Amino acid sequence: MDMDKLVSLCKRRGFLFQSSEIYGGLNGFWDYGPLGTELKRNVKEAWWRDMVTGHDDLAAPPGAPEAFQMVGLDSTIIMHPQIWKCSGHYDLFHDFMVDCRESKKRYRHDQVRGRWVAYQGKRVFVTTQSGGDEGVAETAQRALKLFGLRGKDAERLAWEGELVSLMTVADFAQVLGPDAREPGTLTEPREFNLMFKTYVGALSGEEGAAFLRPETAQGIFVNFKNVVDSSRVSVPFGIAQVGKSFRNEITPRNFTFRSREFEQMEIEFFCHPTQSPDWYRFWRDRRYRWYVELGLAGERLRLRDHDKEELSHYSCGTADIEYAFPFLPPGEFGELEGIAHRGDFDLRSHMEGKLVRQGDSLVVETDAEGKPRHKGSGKDLSYYDDVTRERYIPHVIEPSAGADRATLAFLCEAYQEDKVPDEHGNPRERVFLRLHPRLAPIKAAVFPLVKKDGMPEVAQNIYRDLKQQFNVYYDEKGAVGRRYARQDEVGTPICITVDGPSLTDGTVTFRDRDTLRQWRVKVEDCREELAKVLRGEQLAISS
Ligand code: GAP
Repeated sequence: MDMDKLVSLCKRRGFLFQSSEIYGGLNGFWDYGPLGTELKRNVKEAWWRDMVTGHDDLAAPPGAPEAFQMVGLDSTIIMHPQIWKCSGHYDLFHDFMVDCRESKKRYRHDQVRGRWVAYQGKRVFVTTQSGGDEGVAETAQRALKLFGLRGKDAERLAWEGELVSLMTVADFAQVLGPDAREPGTLTEPREFNLMFKTYVGALSGEEGAAFLRPETAQGIFVNFKNVVDSSRVSVPFGIAQVGKSFRNEITPRNFTFRSREFEQMEIEFFCHPTQSPDWYRFWRDRRYRWYVELGLAGERLRLRDHDKEELSHYSCGTADIEYAFPFLPPGEFGELEGIAHRGDFDLRSHMEGKLVRQGDSLVVETDAEGKPRHKGSGKDLSYYDDVTRERYIPHVIEPSAGADRATLAFLCEAYQEDKVPDEHGNPRERVFLRLHPRLAPIKAAVFPLVKKDGMPEVAQNIYRDLKQQFNVYYDEKGAVGRRYARQDEVGTPICITVDGPSLTDGTVTFRDRDTLRQWRVKVEDCREELAKVLRGEQLAISS
């Protein structure tokens, strides 16, 4: 799929706009237009319904060791700064960046790649930000330009090996930066904390300093005791939260994939330590299945277990659900969601102070005088099981998904092109979004075939009736073929047309977006038929 075509459709049809566009835009920030807002809301609502309100507290779902409860939370974006010290974000949530003295641009150290090339005794590491064949072609072009050669002289360059990360290079004097003309303009890598800083109240200076949350998870941990004390939940149970997170990404890119403001859908699932490996496997499989159920089937979706070296500072096991986004080089996948076994790291850190790993155990990090470097709340966040009479700190399984990345993946997967016959029977190019009916921004469009003979009145009545239950759209402008095309392009599963026979037999035409199949439905059955189709039930009436 050509990503440029999807990006252009998103802008043209009101799914996504660049933030602050009339002022030239702001890198890493995106606005959802009318249809994008509906789509993303549907993604979040599907998640909330499937993970929280639709979850049956009384029965164990397939693969789960036992029945469990799920409840929701909506915590603040700005929280006590000590939270980020104890969570580890204050010390550890950083990327390494390199600056270019010539282009004045900034790059993430781990995202710059390059190839070593030698010419007439001079050896240079020529960089690129692209991967695969594109990256190889770009470095070849840049090397020719650097040495003042033409395409026909390409064989005079001596290349060493494949594209490798800039992180493998020790001497930056030999590096040609991604936008530089001469080697040696990149600075040494420096740490850059990704949290946005702000100031609370009238206090100036560090006393009033606070951070915009870089994840919603910590709001859940610090409310663990409030939820246990107020909601009659018992372990095992999960707390879910959907909300904005902020990260000052050094190189936001790939449409909404890496943004500076984005939304997360996170669950912290609290369980007994001995059961935590079983719950980890349950959530890993359950979350993967959720994407499959909503249409991300096939080779582009995968579940990948992390190697030991990849695990975060707190994690005993992590798996990523990944999608082969079309903007990535062939064979590369981007993360949609991480499912992490976090042990008791978070609850203990908020009790005792920031923890660090020492051998196989976690201990409170201390300063030179042996005092905790970042003090915890001192509150007891353990859990008392009054059936077994055991007190313990629950272990946590965290399925953490990005609402924007999921929305983008659903859009990429849905984008289709095919040929359909036009009104004269000639083949016409068609673009359509094969979105799952639960995700489609508009569920049905209602048309009068022509703007006369009482057809608009019948169509408007159907529209008003359906509107009570579904997000539907009314359109009477232009040829009916054009109106179908406009709905296909935004993924509307069903078009309902009031036509000649409607006026005599009281039926309308239902048309299916994917199969183009048409069948007739009585006006009074429209609501029920649409509900059936959207639920994916077998069509009751055939053409
Ligand atoms: N609480 C754990 C946590 O935040 P993460 O892997 O850093 O883990 C979870 O983030 C999810 O949030 C990612 O899988 C991704 O979907 C989304 N996400 C993270 N950074 C993002 C960014 N800069 N832009 C868009 N989505 C992002």
